[in-house]
Amino acid sequence: MLDELEPAALEARRLATEAAHAGEIAERGLSHSVAQPIYQTTVHSFKSLEDLDRVQTNPEEGWFYYRNASPNRTAFETAMARLEGAEAAVSAGSGMGAIFIALSAVLKSGDHIIADEKIYGGTFALLTQQLPRFGIETTLVDTADDLAVRTALRPTTRVLFFETITNPTMQVSNLPALADLARKLGLYSFVDATFSTPAVCRPLQWGVDIVLHASTKYIGGHSDALGGIVAGRADIVRAANMAGRMMGVTQGPFDAWLNVRSLKTLPLRMAAHSRNAQIVAEWLEKHPAVGQVMYPGLPSHPQHELAKKLMPDGLYGGMLGFELAAGPQALSPFVKALKEIQLVPSLADVITTLSHPAITSHRSLTPEQRAGIGVRDELLRLSVGIEDPADILEDLEQAFRQL
Ligand SMILES: Cc1ncc(COP(=O)(O)O)c(C=O)c1O
Repeated sequence: MLDELEPAALEARRLATEAAHAGEIAERGLSHSVAQPIYQTTVHSFKSLEDLDRVQTNPEEGWFYYRNASPNRTAFETAMARLEGAEAAVSAGSGMGAIFIALSAVLKSGDHIIADEKIYGGTFALLTQQLPRFGIETTLVDTADDLAVRTALRPTTRVLFFETITNPTMQVSNLPALADLARKLGLYSFVDATFSTPAVCRPLQWGVDIVLHASTKYIGGHSDALGGIVAGRADIVRAANMAGRMMGVTQGPFDAWLNVRSLKTLPLRMAAHSRNAQIVAEWLEKHPAVGQVMYPGLPSHPQHELAKKLMPDGLYGGMLGFELAAGPQALSPFVKALKEIQLVPSLADVITTLSHPAITSHRSLTPEQRAGIGVRDELLRLSVGIEDPADILEDLEQAFRQL
């Protein structure tokens, strides 16, 4: 099966090479196009009932209906499995779709999830507002606290859910410790690695069962494609694939094609994002207009040593959080004063963008819930782009001066 690949051959090809060659597998014959075409159709035709029956039985022989599988999706899934070192991968129409089908793969009514309390607001809403309607409950804890996880355990707990780097507070999860704890407690470990990507950190090598991505973000990287990925254990990915087909959260061909196109530059982009974010974080930390700065590459970050271990190339991604020293009343004038940096309720574009988590990603939390996880009203989230860093600093400086 195309969605059940051999374990990734990263030993044979290094990550940047693997990324650059993304998408090359989906054509057959004596010659092939260098860039994979977009298969902008929903279905294939067959010459005989026997051929249709054969392809449905042996998916590696072709494609039939695109809610189930399509060439551009297969190319994206294969590339992601290789980059993550996963047994298999399946894509979805969005990051939330990927999280939903991954959870659907292993949960049923009556089951229970333990999730980190600092997870992305959309995931928070899925776990605490949508899944309870289907009889699935979630307890939110600080997953850095071993005892808190053990205390939340119920006989019905199935999944331990966390993020490599939390959105937007930039807490780094101890992947080997959490994978180990989940195994000891008989739970599946699921990690959302949207903020890191395999160019920064590869969670499966630390023993996590499933890695999830909103490929809408860094993997796409240009704010032009929606998508999500579930990668890891073949049995879970297979079940997630079936759930995705029946729930209809399939990724369309063009979005999958764009995601593959972008994978080719992922390592380069992540290196540039990370380099620039380090420069901006160090600069913000010294600036009198700025309070707390949250970036794993800063020695002042509480999990800096852990980040160095999990992100061994010294790249910590392009996301950072910072607070305005003047408090929430300075937010609006500051955002209006920016000339180049755009206010965007998303992240991970090649251009630098800014977001206010309290009114965007964490809107579904009450002010008390936000305060409890450190998402204060004066917190801004900067998605540092790949521009010349001097231009990013210049724009920030002129905006600070106007406060
Ligand atoms: C960490 C994280 N996970 C998942 C998602 C959801 O992705 P999507 O918007 O593609 O559904 C987001 C979106 O911002 C995110 O930041």
